[in-house]
Amino acid sequence: MMHDLFAEQLEALRAQSLERRLREIHTAQGPEVEIGGRRLVNFSSNDYLGLANDARLRDAAKAAIDNLGIGAGASRLISGTQSPHLCLERALARWKGTEAAICFSSGYAAALGTIPALVTKGDVIVLDKLCHASLIDGARLSGAILRVFPHNNLSKLESHLRWARREHPATRVLIITESVFSMDGDRAPLRELVGLKKRYGALLLLDEAHAVGVIGLNGRGLAAAEDVDAEIDVQMGTLSKALGASGGYICGSRALIEWLINRARSFIFSTAPPAAIVAAALAAVDFLSSPEGEKRRLLLWEKIKLMCDLPGTNRAAQSAIFPLTVGDEQAALELASALQSEGFFVPAIRYPTVARGAARLRITVSATHSDEQIRALCETIKRLTGARFERRC
Ligand SMILES: Cc1ncc(COP(=O)(O)O)c(C=O)c1O
Repeated sequence: MMHDLFAEQLEALRAQSLERRLREIHTAQGPEVEIGGRRLVNFSSNDYLGLANDARLRDAAKAAIDNLGIGAGASRLISGTQSPHLCLERALARWKGTEAAICFSSGYAAALGTIPALVTKGDVIVLDKLCHASLIDGARLSGAILRVFPHNNLSKLESHLRWARREHPATRVLIITESVFSMDGDRAPLRELVGLKKRYGALLLLDEAHAVGVIGLNGRGLAAAEDVDAEIDVQMGTLSKALGASGGYICGSRALIEWLINRARSFIFSTAPPAAIVAAALAAVDFLSSPEGEKRRLLLWEKIKLMCDLPGTNRAAQSAIFPLTVGDEQAALELASALQSEGFFVPAIRYPTVARGAARLRITVSATHSDEQIRALCETIKRLTGARFERRC
């Protein structure tokens, strides 16, 4: 029976310590959450600025519900484009300094819709090995020839580009990478990437999911911080992490955005995101663009630096993500469980999110953590493992 087939498959996952289960959170996102009747200090969330339960976002969502109701009713191209959608897209373009922007229901949908609209069968995609699943899935869906380069390895990237230009001189070549890598927290060498993209006449899609709100003046991301944003053809990001709401976006030229409106299937064939969530995202962009938002971002960096200065985490701060590499899947689960017993919620990340044998705890710091919470976590990890944080930079 089918039922038994899935039970067997699940058993096989369990035997490899790769089974996943949902856990119920009884509270809003914040520095502490309640799980199973216990309050735990939360080092698991991408809510880097503490906006997911912010009154500004909540009020904006409530006002949008009062004015526009709940459902958008149809896709954006039918009757789903309400005022907040257009306001958000204008605000995103202003914030990122691009001609135009388009928002999607999620970052995942942004990748899945955008990449196949940019390249197709016969074109070439060159992608960093540690790119997020949404980028890999979008790349596969496009039907383009896929070449993967080892993480941040510019000479391998260049040899793929040389190969593409030699073997497929007439095709479009798209480089895809992230500015801050989601599971390692390190950064891409953007200036060098831009140099290569120009030399080989390629397009560059940069996913700033974990950089926006965290890096650069007003949280505009790493490309803006390094003053190369004007050179990035397709600037992707998500509204679901530091911005505390939900949704994905692409910023770029007006022609690019109009092309995506015409060709991105996850945009065209899906009901528009609800006005309430869009209005909340707009409130987050407005907040980030304000002096108060910048103050919050700088507060996040104080917390990141505190984490870096503590014994065992003596590497340069690159982002709010601190991987504690364990290796073995079962050992990672056991360490996460030991930390939970001590009052900390830090998830174990395993295959297929990371490579087999590269299981880790993924610690994320938020502007809303107290110094004491961060110190207590580091001391507890040290006591439990006797180890140093292994932070790949
Ligand atoms: C690098 C990266 N890109 C894209 C996404 C997808 O964004 P969303 O959660 O908004 O779908 C995520 C996270 O989920 C991510 O880490």
